[in-house]
Amino acid sequence: IYHRFTTDESNPTGVPHLGNYVGALRQWVQLQHQHDADTRLVYSIVDLHAITIPQSPEKLRKQRRESLAALLAIGVDPDRCTVFYQSSVPAHSELMWILSCTASVGYLSRMTQWKQKLNLSPTSQLAERPVGSRLKLGLFSYPVLQAADILVHRATHVPVGHDQQQHLEFARECVTNFNHSYGPHLVHPETITPTVHRIMSLTDPKSKMSKSDQSERSRILITDTPEEIQAKVASAHTDSFPGISYDVAARPGISNLLDILSIFDTQRRSPAQLAEDYSDAQPRQFKALVSDAVCQGLYGISSRYLELLDTDKGGYLDHVEAEGTRKARQSAEETMEIVRSAVGL
Ligand code: ADP
Ligand code: NA
Repeated sequence: IYHRFTTDESNPTGVPHLGNYVGALRQWVQLQHQHDADTRLVYSIVDLHAITIPQSPEKLRKQRRESLAALLAIGVDPDRCTVFYQSSVPAHSELMWILSCTASVGYLSRMTQWKQKLNLSPTSQLAERPVGSRLKLGLFSYPVLQAADILVHRATHVPVGHDQQQHLEFARECVTNFNHSYGPHLVHPETITPTVHRIMSLTDPKSKMSKSDQSERSRILITDTPEEIQAKVASAHTDSFPGISYDVAARPGISNLLDILSIFDTQRRSPAQLAEDYSDAQPRQFKALVSDAVCQGLYGISSRYLELLDTDKGGYLDHVEAEGTRKARQSAEETMEIVRSAVGL
């Protein structure tokens, strides 16, 4: 099972936000309990993908370590999984090149991510005049590296959200192309669609909570202090309807808070049930309930995170980095020996 986390292209920190945690990273921890040791779990912090957008070297170095510390702080167990930086395993880039040689530019040009990242319309064409010069080759071939990430570890299952389906489809296309030319050596990865809760922005509840949002109040970081969480929830955008009710279309702000409350509710009530139970609550009261539940749910993450990053105890993170690199290289090298031999290299 292969999973990835992009150490940030646009964020001031490598720490995941509540949306990442609920929609993806919590599952990384759950998978460790749901599967026995025969199921290999491969978790990658994808720093090579991060540089498809300009980065400050200092910041990138700091952020990927912060991402690693945050993953460990939520319970990712380096003894149970392989957790590593993408750039620590050169085989990812090597396989990417080999896949590039059988990948179609036409297929890549129809994909949407490069257009989104350049704020182009979905119908933009590669040959259009300003497009070709603004678009960097690395951003265009982002999905080829993503395919290599998966295929180099022979992943059979990849949990991806709706927005990444297209990239998985492309990875399968890469397998088909490669295997057609060189024999049945690469494994077709299957998608696992996690039941994702989409957490919306606190300041603009019609768009999703995202690290690329300008407003820091729009998102809760999983290492925020209780005070920060309280302040962000207290300033969350709601509406002037009386009471509490669950109606995503008419009351997106309140409904988002109900979703969040439901996720962390110790009684596991649904958002609709919670809306009933607190139907008469005042906004301030209700927001206090939500921030209490979030603080409870994230309890301990922040202190573990800070302790891991504390330079005096930094030896542990160094050790995790080294072990992750070693295990990931070994896993990738097994594939590359087969690939190189099949290609004649
Ligand atoms: P961002 O939008 O902050 O850039 P990414 O695109 O890097 O986040 O997503 C990382 C992972 O977190 C993906 O698996 C994605 O589906 C999940 N994710 C991101 N934002 C949310 C959200 N608001 N709600 C639920 N899941 C999310
Ligand atoms: Na994103």
